[in-house]
This record gives sequence, structure tokens and C-alpha cells, in this order.
Amino acid sequence: MTKGKLFGIGVGPGDPELITLKAVKAIEKADIIFTAASSKNPYSLAVEIASPYISENTAIRRLGFRMTKHSEQVEAAWLANTQEIAAVLKEGKTAAFLTLGDPTTYSTFGYILKKMKIVMPDADIETIPGITSFHAAAARLNRVFVEGDESLLITSGAYGGQQIRKFEGIENVAIVKAYKHIKDLNQALKDSGLYENGVAVSKCGRKHEAIIDDLGHLEDRAPDYWTLILASK
Ligand SMILES: C[S@@+](CC[C@H](N)C(=O)[O-])C[C@H]1O[C@@H](n2cnc3c(N)ncnc32)[C@H](O)[C@@H]1O
Repeated sequence: MTKGKLFGIGVGPGDPELITLKAVKAIEKADIIFTAASSKNPYSLAVEIASPYISENTAIRRLGFRMTKHSEQVEAAWLANTQEIAAVLKEGKTAAFLTLGDPTTYSTFGYILKKMKIVMPDADIETIPGITSFHAAAARLNRVFVEGDESLLITSGAYGGQQIRKFEGIENVAIVKAYKHIKDLNQALKDSGLYENGVAVSKCGRKHEAIIDDLGHLEDRAPDYWTLILASK
């Protein structure tokens, strides 16, 4: 039997119109849809965005993972999840793993790609890019993301401002996971001369979207997980 194919699909940042035609075509032909879901909450926004294109007969499987710092547990969970996908491919079926934004950017699909190299090295895999949250936010603000010969740092803010401090002289920064250690993030932006033009966008293109022009306000009320910061010199 011919082996199946795995599509890793970015469905965009949340606005249902920001999904690519290529993603839609792949979703329509999938036999099985996979998505990551935390063990605490099975809801998947990625599936909701794709739902107009998922046929009634297509199975949807949520692959559980836990938000934990124990990397061994995380690795084991993703190995098991990848084995589940590989079993489907071995049946000759087409699987689509859906992920928000772009699948190569801070995405759970990264685990699948790495583990597939171990579990099924000859798997037929196609990654379909998606519009990232930070590009969507820049567009939402009619703001230039980066231009000319400028530099750009795309980083996680999950541990505060340490990443920003590493890159002296950086001219533009996009910070995802900007929901913790906000004071430290803001201080690092100030020290790097990036604070004044900074803006945060929460739930861009989604219900309850918020644009926070003054980053100081993020310190008054803990931001939502779905928050990013764009800042520049
Ligand atoms: C695990 S990363 C996923 C990034 C995604 N793969 C992408 O390409 O944008 C999650 C972080 O992305 C950012 N994010 C994703 N969607 C967003 C949205 N609609 N509005 C604002 N930030 C968003 C938030 O900073 C969130 O903490």
C-alpha cells in the first residue's frame, strides 16, 4: 500500500479570512485532522478556523500535551503523538496537523517534525506556511514591521527581557508570549531604546482583540496569553 501524507498547516493568527488557499485545499482533502490540545482544555481555535473546510466525514483527533517544564515528559508525549500520526500514514491516509499562525514558528508542529525523523524517517511531509501573529498585528496597526537594512529580533518573552538584552543595537523586536514578567520586559525595552514606540496587541483579529499603545498599562493588569509586543527604535 502507498504511504499517506502529512500536511503541517498554519491556519493563520485567528481571523478566519487569514488562512491561505493552499491550507484550505489540504484541509479539504485530509482524511484525519490532528491538532494539539492541552490536557486541561480540549478546545482548539485552529480547528474552529478550519471548520468550514473540514468535511463531515473527516475525523478530528486532539493530541494531548501538558504545559510543563519537565522536558522528558514533554518529549515522551510528543513521541507518542507522533507515533499516532505515523500509524495513520501507514494506513495510506492523508493527515493534516493544524496549528495557529505559522507551523514553523513557535509551533507544536515543530515537535512533530523532529519526532517524525525518528518514528518515520521516510514520511511524506509538506509544511504549509501560515500568516504569523506578529505579521497580522503589524498589518492591523498599519505599522511597518521592518524595512531597509534594519535588524529584527523575533523572540519569546516568556522569561522576561533576557533575550532582548543579548542583542545590543537591535532596531525592531517582535515579542510573542508577552504575558509574564512584563516589568522586566518593559525595562529591557527601555534600556534598548525600544520602549517608546512599543505597542502590544492581544487576540489580534479575534473576539476581544485589544491594542495597548502604552506598554506601561500591561504592568497594571496581567496580559492575556495571546499577547505580543511590537517595538522599534
Ligand atoms: C505558541 S506561540 C504561537 C505563534 C504562532 N505559531 C505564530 O506563527 O504566530 C503563541 C504566542 O503567539 C502570539 N499570538 C498568537 N496568536 C495571536 C493573536 N491572534 N494575537 C496576538 N498574539 C498572538 C502570542 O504572543 C502567544 O503567546
